[in-house]
Amino acid sequence: MELTDLVKKKQRGEKIAMITAYDFTQADIAREAGIDLILVGDSLSMVIDGNSSTLPVSMDIMLYHTGIVLKGAGAVPVIADMPFLSYQTDLPSAIKNAGAFLKKGAKAVKIEGNHPKLVKSLVSIGIPVMGHLGLTPQSVNQLGGYHLQGKDEQSAKELVEAAKQLEQSGAFSIVLEAVPAYLAKLITESISIPTIGIGAGVYCDGQVLVYHDLLGLFDKFKPKFVKRYARLREIAVDAIKNYSSEVKTGKFPDEAHSWN
Ligand code: KIV
Repeated sequence: MELTDLVKKKQRGEKIAMITAYDFTQADIAREAGIDLILVGDSLSMVIDGNSSTLPVSMDIMLYHTGIVLKGAGAVPVIADMPFLSYQTDLPSAIKNAGAFLKKGAKAVKIEGNHPKLVKSLVSIGIPVMGHLGLTPQSVNQLGGYHLQGKDEQSAKELVEAAKQLEQSGAFSIVLEAVPAYLAKLITESISIPTIGIGAGVYCDGQVLVYHDLLGLFDKFKPKFVKRYARLREIAVDAIKNYSSEVKTGKFPDEAHSWN
């Protein structure tokens, strides 16, 4: 699939499924499962690096993970998240950083917030941009935590306007995070590019979940919008307990796993 097919999917009413991935095996599994898009999210700061926010992650770390995801993604388009301070300081650095992801092989970058001029500049030089509105985790300190956004009329109107501006600037899609379903519906119906929801209800053109949340690998907290489709953490803990106990009792390695 190409990114240009996404608008056609929206027009046909076909939902888009995106997942995050951070390494070769995760991307390979997502590809085999038939996912439409893979996002190398800066959420890796929390689920891979063990930080309490997405702020610490650097360009070097994001580029490294984008590279190893690409090895497993095959033909699935990979979108790279631009980390905090990689696009906010000045236009030349933003272009250089966004371009570095495309040089690695990513098909597009994702940028949090409403930055119409920046999006226009990137798109004009051939760098496709996915927007991200609503709860933008890089602004967690300003937002006062990870809360539902767009609850009052004023902020809802601002989000609709921001989505329209991003579309006019040339963004190919917009992630809507933690906004009420009726607002996501209004935004989705107000723009011709696809919306990808996370905690934004059923009316978005697609959905995204964090790999570790979807598979039940991350248990530090669970936002309301996370659906765990598996409980891999429990399975992994049980397996390692079993292994450890078999090592200690001399049950492993047995004949089947040894050369005599
Ligand atoms: O970093 C991330 O994983 C994201 C998704 C939650 C959209 O931005």
